[in-house]
Amino acid sequence: IMSGFIFDLDGVIVDTAKYHYQAWKQLADKIGIEFSLEQNEQLKGVSRADSLNKILEWGQKTISNETFTALMKEKNEQYLDFIATMDDNEILPDVSKVLNYLKTKKQKIALGSASKNAVQILEKVKLTHYFDAIVDGNQVTNAKPNPEVFLNAAKQINVQPEHCIVFEDSLAGIQAANIANMVSIGIGDASILAEADYVFKDFSEMSLEFIDKLINLKN
Ligand code: BG6
Ligand code: MG
Repeated sequence: IMSGFIFDLDGVIVDTAKYHYQAWKQLADKIGIEFSLEQNEQLKGVSRADSLNKILEWGQKTISNETFTALMKEKNEQYLDFIATMDDNEILPDVSKVLNYLKTKKQKIALGSASKNAVQILEKVKLTHYFDAIVDGNQVTNAKPNPEVFLNAAKQINVQPEHCIVFEDSLAGIQAANIANMVSIGIGDASILAEADYVFKDFSEMSLEFIDKLINLKN
């Protein structure tokens, strides 16, 4: 019996939204755009370029392509300074427990993230060794809700999409999993993630019996 378990990174394995917020906030201040925590919520799961486009749109600002590229670079350098401080204390509740359980049950595990910094972050929190495949923003051209990232991950772990389970904190990610015909599991706020097959506040709310059910899915 074998399922594929695909984890989003930001907001599922680690809470990096606070670092994205600080980095975007600093940039927005500099170019004279207001940027709130509520707006930051809307950037979850959204690629770096699309995030900057949204911020510019909110601030009704147009800039040259050169400036756009420079600002993206600046934001990421700031973000990487925060990432550099991360360690395994930042792993979200019971993520390691679930990863360990899946390993003992010999399940396939993949990462499906929009981030171009995913490999670095997994290294910082010392979780790389769990993953049979890592698909991130460097390998994907179509952003979530396009299912490309998850279909690519399924292919790499050699599991049919119908036998894959996706853990996601963003609505776009849940939609991508649904379009890919995978079981979608929202991690976070049930009102935001209403389209998911199941929603849990975090992994500590998920029983091992439930995970067993996912392992035995449609087999
Ligand atoms: C997603 C985050 O996982 O990755 C977004 O939820 C972020 O907030 C996106 O913008 C891209 O991340 P990065 O690390 O490539 O800038
Ligand atoms: Mg996420």
